[in-house]
Amino acid sequence: MTKQLTVAIVGATGAVGSKMKEQLIKRKFPIKHIKFLASARSAGKEIEFDDKSYIIEEATPEAFEGVDVALFSAGGSVSAKLAPEAAKRGAVVIDNTSHFRMHPEVPLVVPEVNRGDLAKHNGIIANPNCSTIQMVVALQPIREKFGLSKVLVSTYQAVSGSGVSAIEELRTQSEQWDAGKDVEANILPAKSDKKHYPIARNVLPQIDVFTENGFTYEEMKMINETKKIMHLPELHVAATCVRVPVVSGHSESVYIEVENDATIQDIFNVLKDAPGVVLQDDISQQIYPMPIYVEGEDPVYVGRIRQDLDNKKGFHLWIVSDNLLKGAALNSIQIAEAMLEDNLL
Ligand code: A2P
Repeated sequence: MTKQLTVAIVGATGAVGSKMKEQLIKRKFPIKHIKFLASARSAGKEIEFDDKSYIIEEATPEAFEGVDVALFSAGGSVSAKLAPEAAKRGAVVIDNTSHFRMHPEVPLVVPEVNRGDLAKHNGIIANPNCSTIQMVVALQPIREKFGLSKVLVSTYQAVSGSGVSAIEELRTQSEQWDAGKDVEANILPAKSDKKHYPIARNVLPQIDVFTENGFTYEEMKMINETKKIMHLPELHVAATCVRVPVVSGHSESVYIEVENDATIQDIFNVLKDAPGVVLQDDISQQIYPMPIYVEGEDPVYVGRIRQDLDNKKGFHLWIVSDNLLKGAALNSIQIAEAMLEDNLL
């Protein structure tokens, strides 16, 4: 019989936390007991799960007593403070924030790519950045067959990646535009940065704040995390991350260079059978992936595959996935499922 587990969701009221609830039910995760943790603001309020009502508790170190799996998605500072407390009390933490991702002792896992890394955990597993997850799911099968030397990506990222408040801001700004009112911007491109710009009827070439080298933190996450997950420290990766006025579903234009000769048909064949990937590419019928159609769907969709006109080892791909699902909640639950199957929980 499958082991039944005590699960905690930290950030249960948030955009990703809500999807974690849905995924646990949809995937029939074996739950003995579940607790919902959030800030003191939400403590005492009711939350629905599987047709039952639960009381939200404040996330404190003691709240993790008896917890087997703690799914964190309440921001980096909450993870920094509470993930070690949860691990100390015997929970396996699956952390959706960037806080522990590049820590050498913390596995950073996309099960389709590096499931084997889970066995090396010390109580904390990191769930990668949303844009990185969908990209590596599509690139790993190509890399396995043809090698991979270069990845240049531009993203078109949805506002839900910035949480419930950013979704609300897009809605409000759209209404303000339609009503001919002044458009107010308080959150994007990055809450903690000095200036804020409208996202409605706009695109923002900044996600997160800038680092010293001119790339943003989001771009550096894609660069560093891709190398770590794929175990390719020498891979040439560059990213430009852009926020677009889409609620859910990140899109990416990706240029890759492979090491061995490959034809476009080879790339099609590899992606057709790849785990977690749906090939959606028929230009004669104008078939290609788009965010409004992937919202609520599990897979990573790939289309618009072209061989580069000047470099036979260069290929262009268009990769789209629901950033709150494979990019966040679904990948976290798949990590927990893989750990259960591999007797790591
Ligand atoms: P709360 O609703 O009580 O503020 P999102 O990414 O969609 O904005 O969601 C953030 C999530 O993180 C929410 O569930 C939020 O809870 C939670 N959160 C924010 N600050 C804290 C904190 N200090 N301790 C625990 N949870 C927090």
